[in-house]
Amino acid sequence: MAEQSGIVQDHWTREGTLARIDAVLREMGHDPEVVMPEILSGVEHLHSGGLATTQDQAEKLALGPDARVLDIGCGIGGPARYLAHTYGCHVDGIDLTPEMIETGQVLTRRCGLEDKVTLEIGNAMELAFPDQTFDVVWCQNVTMNIADQAGFLGQVYRVLKPGGKFTSTEYSTGPGGDVLYPVTWAYDAAINFLDSEDVMRAQFADAGFSILDWTNYTAQAIDRLGQAAAAPSKLTNRLVFGDDTPERSGNVRRNLMEERIIYWMITAERP
Ligand SMILES: C[S@@+](CC[C@H](N)C(=O)[O-])C[C@H]1O[C@@H](n2cnc3c(N)ncnc32)[C@H](O)[C@@H]1O
Repeated sequence: MAEQSGIVQDHWTREGTLARIDAVLREMGHDPEVVMPEILSGVEHLHSGGLATTQDQAEKLALGPDARVLDIGCGIGGPARYLAHTYGCHVDGIDLTPEMIETGQVLTRRCGLEDKVTLEIGNAMELAFPDQTFDVVWCQNVTMNIADQAGFLGQVYRVLKPGGKFTSTEYSTGPGGDVLYPVTWAYDAAINFLDSEDVMRAQFADAGFSILDWTNYTAQAIDRLGQAAAAPSKLTNRLVFGDDTPERSGNVRRNLMEERIIYWMITAERP
């Protein structure tokens, strides 16, 4: 597992992320030291559909200031800051990739959200939290890099309080054929671990979850990936994912359109 984690970390590391974000913020007339989630939204929601997907996913939950949330694979912390800023909840974010967390910690401080958002390096497979800590476990576009889905879901279940919710946006395989590479999460099959919808549903059930909502979110993702590709803004996930992002995101959209993959928004409950 350690070897696989190293490959995943390398995949998501593009050194100098913060400097690239700062340069674009300055070009746009912002002081990088004085930012807020509304300014950063174009670059910090690192999943299909960006901020709009985060908003739709959050609306499926009843989040309030008392909620304790864990964001697994939080990237540079955009969704965590959005949830804390919008709903007043406390969010712990963990991510395998140091470059993501180091960038996210600076942005969190600059947004003045460090009392509500804590970002730390961590592995989804070994969550460093006691049993039954969280009201909500949140996850967006992470599980495609996780080989042991049963182990992952077991960790999520363990840290949720009874009655707690697990929300996840993730891909499954589709009926349209093999995945075309490169995609945002993988250059080849080595770190691509998509399962079929049936297998995913069985894994959730085996882990003990009740499914509250299982929405096919593919059409929204196709639309928004198209809009993002056409938008003139330079404050985009390219600053985090690298200069080949347009090709890789374009392939995600093509895979979705050809039903090689399906994008799901899932809400489950630990009974
Ligand atoms: C596409 S990014 C999504 C980031 C964030 N969820 C968002 O939507 O803005 C995928 C992230 O998952 C992280 N990741 C992949 N495998 C992980 C694991 N086993 N444990 C923790 N983080 C992981 C990567 O480091 C990367 O930052």
